[in-house]
Formats: sequence, C-alpha cells, structure tokens
Amino acid sequence: MLIKSHKDGFSHPASNEITPQRVYEGRRDLMKLMATGVAGAAMASMAVRDARAQVARPGKLAALAGAKSNVPGAVTMEKLTAYKDITSYNNFYEFGADKGDPAENAHTLKTTPWSVEVEGLVKKPARYTLEDLLKLSTQEERIYRHRCVEGWSMVIPWVGYSLSELIKKVEPLGGAKYVEFVTLDDPKTMPFVGSRVLDWPYVEGLRMDEALHPLALLSFGLYGEVLPNQDGAPVRLVVPWKYGFKSGKSLVKIRFTDKQPATAWNKAAPAEYGFYSNVNPDVDHPRWSQATERRIGEDGLFAKRRKTLMFNGYEPQVGQLYAGMDLKKYF
Ligand code: MTE
Repeated sequence: MLIKSHKDGFSHPASNEITPQRVYEGRRDLMKLMATGVAGAAMASMAVRDARAQVARPGKLAALAGAKSNVPGAVTMEKLTAYKDITSYNNFYEFGADKGDPAENAHTLKTTPWSVEVEGLVKKPARYTLEDLLKLSTQEERIYRHRCVEGWSMVIPWVGYSLSELIKKVEPLGGAKYVEFVTLDDPKTMPFVGSRVLDWPYVEGLRMDEALHPLALLSFGLYGEVLPNQDGAPVRLVVPWKYGFKSGKSLVKIRFTDKQPATAWNKAAPAEYGFYSNVNPDVDHPRWSQATERRIGEDGLFAKRRKTLMFNGYEPQVGQLYAGMDLKKYF
C-alpha cells in the first residue's frame, strides 16, 4: 500500500502511551462486560491488548465453533499461519500504518453494541445488530489464502458464512449492480482516522456477482474464536481471490447501488489500486512485481518466496466471473 511516513501526516503514539493503566482499565471493562453477558467480545478485546506480548486467546464462542465448509475452494490443506502472526501483523490504517500498530492500538475499538445498516437498492433495507447477523446463517470454518497487495500472504481459518446469505435476505432490486462496504470511522476510538493517507471512511466495493459468489465471506471470527479487534472485529469481509485491501474491516454499512463505488485506495492512488484488484501474478503493481509472495511465518533471510497464483489459487471457482475481461485494463 502507500506507506506514508510521519512527514506525510502520520504520527505514531509514543510507546509510553500504552500504559499498564490501560491494561488495568481493560480488565475492569471485561468484568463489566462479563456481568452483562458479553464476555466473549470482551475477551477478544483483551486478546488484542496482549496479542503481541503473549498471544492471549479470546476463547471459543458456541456460535463461532464453525463446522467445516462444503463450499468448493473453501478449505486448503496448506499449513495455517500462526494465530500470533495473524493477530500481530496487520493492515488497519485507522489504527496506524505499521504492521504492529493495529495490535497495539485497536483495543480502543468498541465492538458492542454494533450494527450494520443495509440500504440502497434493496426491497428490505434493515439495520442488523451483530446478534442478528451472528444468527442469520450457520457459521462455518473457511481456510483461505489471504494475499496482501504488498506481497505477503497468510493462510487463515476464518469463521463466518457467505455474504450471499445476507444478500438473499434483503432482496436486491434489479437495478442493484454493485455492493458498497463502508467501515467504521470513529475518530474517538480510531486514532488514525483523519490522517491524510485515505479519505475516510475506508470504503470498498464488489460487483453484484462477485458479492454473491459463495467464497465471499462475512467473517466474525478466526481460529474458532471471535475476531480480535485488529483483524476487523466484530464483522468484516473476506474476499480470498482479491488482494487483502478489498476485505473491509469493522463493517457498519452495506449499500446496494447501480454505480461502481468509489473505493478508498482507488481514490487515493487510482493508477496503483484498481476497483477489481483480483490477485494476478501477471499484472504488476506499478512499483513492484506481483509474481511472488512471502508467506508470513516462513520468513527469515533465506526463505524462498512462493509463486503467486492467478486469483490467489481460486481460478477454478471464480475465473468465470471475469470471462472475456481484459484483466490488465480492469486490474
Ligand atoms: N479495512 C479497514 N477498515 N481499514 C484498513 O486499513 N486494510 C486492508 C484490509 N481491510 C484495511 C481494511 C488491507 S490493506 C489488508 S491487506 C487487509 O485488511 C489486512 O487484513 P488482516 O490485517 O486481517 O490480515
């Protein structure tokens, strides 16, 4: 991505801002939340605080136990990336531009109460609370390759269900051609919202047929546990055949529209980040090759880079969506 330096408007919090006081307050919040019965979410945010140091685990929630998926392509036998890496090497610019920033800073994100507004060209617009969303369909485990446009990748056991389940419920109108995903932009809890790197909120979009593809996942957890804040709690999108930035975190609005949404990175640097952003080893980023990737957890000086696969290896499942399209033009 565009990694902006301090000069460009980022100023990272000093390390002494992460104080034991905050940890103490977090524990107190946890006690409160336990009393109100949302212990799972609270434990997740506690895991956020501790992720870098000792990788505390938020614990399983029954709703997120997740049966294995039958969706073609939704499971890979590749070695899973360690929980510690998935939760401490992140992109979540609302919490800072460095990979470690989200794990350090995202404890301020307040994930309860939470709701997602579904609006635009649909027969049944509605505001779904997180609880409604969790119950809307059966949670499954999907083991997906996760490829960032920057050239690194992971293998993540997400928990969730196909976005299409929600789309079917709200009944899009005939004119709905695209789906826009708007994520939270709360300067009170997200210290880097307002930084000049992006025009906030972080917005992403899919064409309707992409959004309806069964591999497009609405995710609530990983490793059978609630999503840690830095991974996009409490609900995020995962589109495994596209570069990671298409997978918006901490969703608050899903809007059905007849126009291609203006997406955050595309607005920031249109020559570098296209609307489609399908993983494609043959189309380089203007500033670097996309032919290979580094699997997180396999680094070390001599670790070999892996060859990046067309559509991140999901070509048999999604290739048809792009039949006849010039993928160099529609990158
Ligand atoms: N969503 C929001 N709201 N803000 C972000 O900065 N970063 C994107 C995407 N979703 C981002 C976001 C990018 S660039 C990537 S690679 C993935 O989240 C990273 O997901 P991960 O940190 O869970 O691996």
